[in-house]
Formats: sequence, structure tokens, C-alpha cells
Amino acid sequence: MIEVINLNKSFKDNKVLNNLNLTIESGITSVIIGRSGCGKSVLLKHIIGILKPNSGQVIIDGQDVTKLLPKELNKLRLNFGMVFQGAALFDSMTIYENVGFNLIEHTDMDSQTIAKRVKEALALVGLSGIENLRPAELSGGMRKRVGLARAICVRPKIILYDEPTTGVDPIMADAVNDLIKNLHDKLQVTSIVVTHDMVSAYKVGSKISMLYEGRIIETGTPEQIKNTHNPVVKQFVTGAAEGPITAQNKIVNEV
Ligand SMILES: Nc1ncnc2c1ncn2[C@@H]1O[C@H](COP(=O)(O)OP(=O)(O)O)[C@@H](O)[C@H]1O
Ligand SMILES: [Mg+2]
Repeated sequence: MIEVINLNKSFKDNKVLNNLNLTIESGITSVIIGRSGCGKSVLLKHIIGILKPNSGQVIIDGQDVTKLLPKELNKLRLNFGMVFQGAALFDSMTIYENVGFNLIEHTDMDSQTIAKRVKEALALVGLSGIENLRPAELSGGMRKRVGLARAICVRPKIILYDEPTTGVDPIMADAVNDLIKNLHDKLQVTSIVVTHDMVSAYKVGSKISMLYEGRIIETGTPEQIKNTHNPVVKQFVTGAAEGPITAQNKIVNEV
């Protein structure tokens, strides 16, 4: 469904994506892992057309996103639900206005239909009836859920999550992972999750791809990634998921 072909992106001398190739299959959750600063968010921004590459293509349903005009991009983006790091809610708006934002701003849907969609989206994340509250009245976990409700309110074909568990405690991270899985099962969407959290990657992903030095160096099932023979992938997945435990084991082994 999504094909990234020979994608190159540099910011001045900083070559971030280096002939990157990646295929995202329809209907499954694909996770892209990699160290902080390796270009995960830059890759996501190319997929939704926020950034233009120096060269290469992003093909979605037969269309090259990198060649689309702004108007065509806006139309395409209604197929995407994007969950940003942090909830990125508008504090001055009600939850209704936040969740319905894209439908209110970018479609000519009538307000009754929008109200129904907002209600449905809030129910899916387990937050029925909070339309008239404001973000300041919610806990961190609830805000995160509202961010997800906003993404699914457009009934996207593709949901992109940028570091959904970064900056939340492990219990909330687990709740967020469950929510990603539940939404995927209920909505039958294609999901792309970008993360450096291996606990999350293993839990939500059907396929995991590792981004390193501007390329995807390996793609596999969680099981295949766990048992990888690629030393770079191995170092990352063990280090990121259980750094202190590995260090302890090493000391024990050395003794
Ligand atoms: N708009 C931008 N202008 C210049 N450099 C950028 C821009 N966006 C990202 N970068 C650089 O690209 C690299 C990858 O960033 P990013 O994709 O945000 O990493 P991460 O994998 O943590 O999401 C970093 O070196 C970052 O400084
Ligand atoms: Mg990022």
C-alpha cells in the first residue's frame, strides 16, 4: 500500500535519508525503530507529504506523494490519522472542537454528522461524553486518548504514530499500546508506529523495520527481530529494551 523508493533527504550537509527503501503492507501495524535523531520523524513527514525529498518517491495507492500539489495533498491527508508526540491539543478549544478539528476545518460535513463522528471516536478510546470539557481539565492519559480520538475521527485508512509512548510512565505506555492494538483490530487500518521503545515495538508490531544511517537495514516479524543476526539491530534491540539488565548480565558473566 505504501512504497518508499530510493528516498534521499539532506538538510544542508546533514544527510538524513540515504536511498531509503521501505514497503508498508496494508492492514497491519508496521513499526519503525531507530535511535533518537536517526530520521524517523523525517521519514513520517515524507510519507504524509509535509517534507519534500531531494530525490525518490513515496507511492500511496498508486500516487506519488512527493509530486502532489498542496490541494491534492490536503485531500490525501484526510486518509491519514496522525498522532503526534505529546497530545498537541488546542487548549482554548473544547474536546469536541479538538477531536472534530479536521472535519470542521477541511470538509463540508454538516455539524450533526461531525457530532456523531466525534462521539464515535471518543467512545472508541473509552472517553464518552467529555465533548464539552477542555484539555486543561483532563489527566495526561486522557489527553493522549483525545489525541488518538482526533486522529481516528476522520476514519483514516492509515494511522501514523510518532513516539506514542515516549515521555509517559510504563503503566500508561502499556495502556497506550493496548489502545493502538484495539484500534487496529476494530478499525482494520494500516498503522505505522515510529518508536525507540522496544517494549512497545514488540507489543504492537506485526512487522518491525530498523532505520540506521539513513536506510532500512532490516525488516522482520518481532520474533525475527528478536533473533536477528545483524549486530547493529541486535545491539539496538537489546540495549533499548533492557539496557541495565544486559549490563548487569555482562558483569555477572565477567565475574
Ligand atoms: N526541518 C529540519 N531542518 C533541519 N534539520 C532537520 C529538520 N528536521 C529534522 N532535522 C534533522 O534530521 C535528523 C533526524 O531528525 P528526526 O527525524 O527528528 O529524528 P528522530 O529519529 O528522533 O525522529 C536530525 O539530525 C535533525 O536535526
Ligand atoms: Mg522523532
